[in-house]
Amino acid sequence: MPLVPAYIESLLPYEAGRQIEEVCQQYGLTRVAKLASNENPLGPSPRAIQAIRKHLESLNLYPNGGLDLRKVLAEQFDLRLENVIVGSGSEGIMSNIIRTFLCDEDEVLTTESAFLGFQLLAKSRGVKYRTVPYKAWHYDLEGLASRINDHTKIIYLANPNNPTGTIFSKHEFDAFYKHVPERVLIILDEAYFEYAKDNPRYPDSMHYRYDNVITLRTFSKIYGLAGVRIGYGFAHEELIANLLKVKLPFEPSTLAQAAGIRALTDKEFLHRSLELNARGIRLLAESLGGMGVEFVPSEANFVMIIRKSEVESDRLTTELLRQGVIVRQLKAFGLPHCLRISTGSDEENQRCVEALKKALAATVS
Ligand SMILES: Cc1ncc(COP(=O)(O)O)c(C=O)c1O
Repeated sequence: MPLVPAYIESLLPYEAGRQIEEVCQQYGLTRVAKLASNENPLGPSPRAIQAIRKHLESLNLYPNGGLDLRKVLAEQFDLRLENVIVGSGSEGIMSNIIRTFLCDEDEVLTTESAFLGFQLLAKSRGVKYRTVPYKAWHYDLEGLASRINDHTKIIYLANPNNPTGTIFSKHEFDAFYKHVPERVLIILDEAYFEYAKDNPRYPDSMHYRYDNVITLRTFSKIYGLAGVRIGYGFAHEELIANLLKVKLPFEPSTLAQAAGIRALTDKEFLHRSLELNARGIRLLAESLGGMGVEFVPSEANFVMIIRKSEVESDRLTTELLRQGVIVRQLKAFGLPHCLRISTGSDEENQRCVEALKKALAATVS
């Protein structure tokens, strides 16, 4: 008997984006823009940094399981404490959802080339993982509804979606929801919620307070706290109660919780982050359009580019790397002919556009 089940052996470990120091060394560069992981180019929320400093002295004590942040979120979103969970990033909560709700015969249903973190978590549980192709780079909600069967247990929807950057509207979701039995749990991943929330087509998911929907959000993106690992979720109290049984008792860490609580008050930082991202998205869209490069209009903090083949996508990624711009080739997501560029600082975005021009000139075959 092998020690490791076949469904684990066949997985490829998550490969994080390339690190700045490593790329500097490899290509003899002094300046590198990391536009590969949808991070906040302004750094962490300054208020969150203050809170982290303040809590350093109490690190000898165990944290309280996220209770303080849950209280703050419940108040802010007008919910009861029982409807709120927090964890080590939204992926930490996702991992707990997989452990809490899936049995061996259950199936997971989502779009093809979904967010890689979810793909890995679901596949590592060894259950059937079913997908439906994108429709013009959007979730095919009708297609998903038609694929629900007696074994479907979890449906994963990211809105905005990573890596395409597209959204679905409340109307589209409602039409889909009618086909979802109550015994099926919908994970609504809103990691990029803040970037899309002002778009009139984007639904306020607080109107989705159905008993079988769990909304996940994160401090990793707009609040610049990816490194500290803090995320949150809203759901029916029974779902939350069961997740709390499975969650590691001391997650999130003291520093993560303190950072999250203070970051929520940092409206100025949120505003600056949104403005910077909007400028970045505009610049990338205009420049890519001007260069005749196919891309998907984005509602998040990144843009997906479509090349003709994996070879072309690889070449463009490597050429940009040589010029000191790290982007994400999307082979691991299941889109080998695509790549994704996150927005950076104004200067990085400008540099990225210049590098793209040169790279395209160098890679035209
Ligand atoms: C769609 C989506 N969900 C979740 C996450 C992970 O968020 P966290 O850092 O909170 O685990 C990401 C990060 O890239 C993402 O793109």
